[in-house]
Amino acid sequence: MVKLGVNIDHIATLRQARGEFDPDPIMAARLCEQAGCDSIVAHLREDRRHIQDRDIVLLRKTVKTRFNLEMSLEAGIVKVALAVKPDQATLVPERRQELTTEGGLDVKRHLKRVKKVSQVLMDAGIDVSLFIAPVKKQIDATASIGVKAIELHTGSYAHAFADRLAIDEFTQIKAMTLYARKLGITVNAGHGLNYDNTFAIARVKGMAELNIGHAIMSRAVFVGLKQAVCEMIAIIRREKA
Ligand code: PXP
Repeated sequence: MVKLGVNIDHIATLRQARGEFDPDPIMAARLCEQAGCDSIVAHLREDRRHIQDRDIVLLRKTVKTRFNLEMSLEAGIVKVALAVKPDQATLVPERRQELTTEGGLDVKRHLKRVKKVSQVLMDAGIDVSLFIAPVKKQIDATASIGVKAIELHTGSYAHAFADRLAIDEFTQIKAMTLYARKLGITVNAGHGLNYDNTFAIARVKGMAELNIGHAIMSRAVFVGLKQAVCEMIAIIRREKA
């Protein structure tokens, strides 16, 4: 069964708008877990625009499922990750000006650095996943440094889906999932997934987990967080909401 990881960054975005205490990402994580998600995802960005260091310390203590920390390769962030020890670290590229993670990590280009950071994290007992574009050269690069999991960037698929032209992107994700599975790599996916475009991705053979944030938080504003998570789980597992 395909799993759901819920990214709670935007709960912290809302809190930071006031710079005080509410809404609390830790409470959000608890509610998502009560609704049945399989992991909690949070991105500690270098500019600390949403999730703060204390959030990840508290998430480490309170998350009962799996805690997946999204992070860049920057030395200060790696240091925090090694101290906090999430269950999983998902390595992502990071640019200060971007609104959200815009592209995949270029593992092939930054092979040495990605290998070094991945190894340090794995040596500390943290599972490592690389957020990459769904292309062969990035999967091959991942395999070459012994990393056992990837998250395929579904942003292009999501954009194309909105324009009703997602067949090529979908075919590519299916093919790359199969390719990576043959190399023994666990395949996750995420970015831009919503209540319309997730159904197809959840049915890709070999897919392990989908990481979804913005769509769930946007829906939660209207129907509540538990309901928003339950509805997404229903789409992924084809149950009634
Ligand atoms: N996966 C990764 C690696 C991400 O960087 C993000 C965005 O923080 C997501 C998943 C979730 O994307 P979205 O908020 O569009 O669902």
